[in-house]
Amino acid sequence: MQTQKAQQIADGIFAVGAVDTNAARFHGYHVNRGVTFNAYLVDNGNGTFTLIDTVHRDKTDILCERIASVTAPSNVSAIIVNHTEPDHSGALPALLQKTGAAVYGTVAAAKLLQNMYGIIGVQTVKNGETLSIGERAFTFAATPMVHWPDNMVTYLAKERILFSNDAFGQHYATQDALDTANDVDVAIAEAQHYFANIVMPYRAQAAKATEAALSLSPCMIAPSHGVVWTKHIPAIAKLYRSLAAGETRGAVLVFDSMWGGTAERAQEAQQTLRAHTDTIAVFDLRTCHLSDVMSALAAAEHVCIGSPTYNGYPTPRVSTLLAEIEALKPPVKEYSLFGTFGWGGGAAKKIDEKLNALGLTKAFDLTRA
Ligand code: FEO
Repeated sequence: MQTQKAQQIADGIFAVGAVDTNAARFHGYHVNRGVTFNAYLVDNGNGTFTLIDTVHRDKTDILCERIASVTAPSNVSAIIVNHTEPDHSGALPALLQKTGAAVYGTVAAAKLLQNMYGIIGVQTVKNGETLSIGERAFTFAATPMVHWPDNMVTYLAKERILFSNDAFGQHYATQDALDTANDVDVAIAEAQHYFANIVMPYRAQAAKATEAALSLSPCMIAPSHGVVWTKHIPAIAKLYRSLAAGETRGAVLVFDSMWGGTAERAQEAQQTLRAHTDTIAVFDLRTCHLSDVMSALAAAEHVCIGSPTYNGYPTPRVSTLLAEIEALKPPVKEYSLFGTFGWGGGAAKKIDEKLNALGLTKAFDLTRA
């Protein structure tokens, strides 16, 4: 197999993470273009190196191989842990054995690393604190709940490079890390998919982190997933501002069907919906991935749900959709229903109860036998 090499993305700064083009799931949701675990190696200019984040445990060998293409792992003197979730910390225990590096993270990260791996002695850093190593000055900013309580970002002020961890990330498995080498429309669509399925419940915190990040005027944003933003920082900034603010437009029509009756009524529902909006994204839960529905709901005003009645309830797929709406909290404001109630009914009532409890307003109901 070909040796995995680091990619230099700026002077003395290397992408050394792992790209998995075959992975179809991440964090329990479906991904369309593989999975990425980004880590960055920074040459401190004094013979030592700083590693920013690691990768999933299963990808440890790739990370080590890519580091070794730049320097001996024993030269890594510091590891900055922006976030302890296993996709970024899984390789840390092995890296510590190879390097004996000092570990830096927030107080919350230190606690989690001890609980998860028994790692002690993490050097805790405060919001706004700067750590100088060789010629580099790493400044830390806490970004709690984007995506866990322990999250922070790391900034190299002189170089204007922000290591943003989960924020601004996407799962877009590409061999060249830079946005300029990839399709920006795909990267933006994948960033919305990632936001919807990971960050959306924490929109308020994401809005704060976005403004804090952009106020630094970075010329490079290097997230822990997907492409590194350079030329297209304005595009990802616009997307994040819009998603974090909960801006909505258009409708999502999503349905399940047991015998085809509800699917047949999707057409009628779509026509009724046209009185409300021209922008309608349609999803058939029998064939699509729920994570794609959530991606569309991240920016939709209205959700139109079609379900047959299944033993007095919506179908299991629609019930899962409702659970995801409750958990991921898309900014959708209005809903409508269609479907069949067979010999007993009950699905529409359950959907009403759930969506009313979530504060959505009902526009219309086309459910019938
Ligand atoms: Fe990429 Fe919250 O982990």
